[in-house]
Amino acid sequence: MLITIPDVLTPDELATARALLARADWGDGKATAGLQAAQVKNNRQIAEDDAQLPALRQLVLEALGRSALFFTAALPLRIYPPMFNRYGGDANRFGAHVDGAVRRLPTGAGYVRTDVSATLFLSDPAAYDGGELVIEDTFGTHAIKLAAGSMVVYPSSSIHRVEPVTRGERSACFMWMQSMVRDDGERRLLHEMDMALLQLRQQLGDTDAVVRLTGTYHNLLRRWAEA
Ligand code: NI
Repeated sequence: MLITIPDVLTPDELATARALLARADWGDGKATAGLQAAQVKNNRQIAEDDAQLPALRQLVLEALGRSALFFTAALPLRIYPPMFNRYGGDANRFGAHVDGAVRRLPTGAGYVRTDVSATLFLSDPAAYDGGELVIEDTFGTHAIKLAAGSMVVYPSSSIHRVEPVTRGERSACFMWMQSMVRDDGERRLLHEMDMALLQLRQQLGDTDAVVRLTGTYHNLLRRWAEA
């Protein structure tokens, strides 16, 4: 299931994020890539010890905390601290890969299983050419290029790539998370049901049937979630 979430960041947050990005030191993106991904990864990434990283991470996590759509789509249990990358010049692409299934937390305190991946676009799409995030899922191949401040959420199990950026620069925040619901198919059913219930509540109010269906949603979540 592939979902786009518009306006995750406010214009003020986007401006703050860009100011922090401009002051950051950019290292080689291969630093966090596994063996296969490292062979096709050629971009820049903010290093784990960079002074701007904590504020950038906090800004993104606070914004995600406000997004009901993000919550119902991802049902996040643990989020690997968000990271930031840049494509442009001679470091401008990331070939086809699947994200590693488990990531060791930067603190060393345990692991996150990557069920859901997300990319939060930070550059104005008019400011660069190329740079589409191309994701293969069971319903075909999707080329994603979103407005600055908007995000795409997709299963970490999908093969994806970032097309070469041939003009300008593309900055983004990317993250992985372990979901309370491990299976993508179960997450999709829950998300679709939750969104339909939202509409029904708006149209009908809390009728007896709406209350019962809401109960069914939660009982399915209880059955499938690990929290
Ligand atoms: Ni990836």
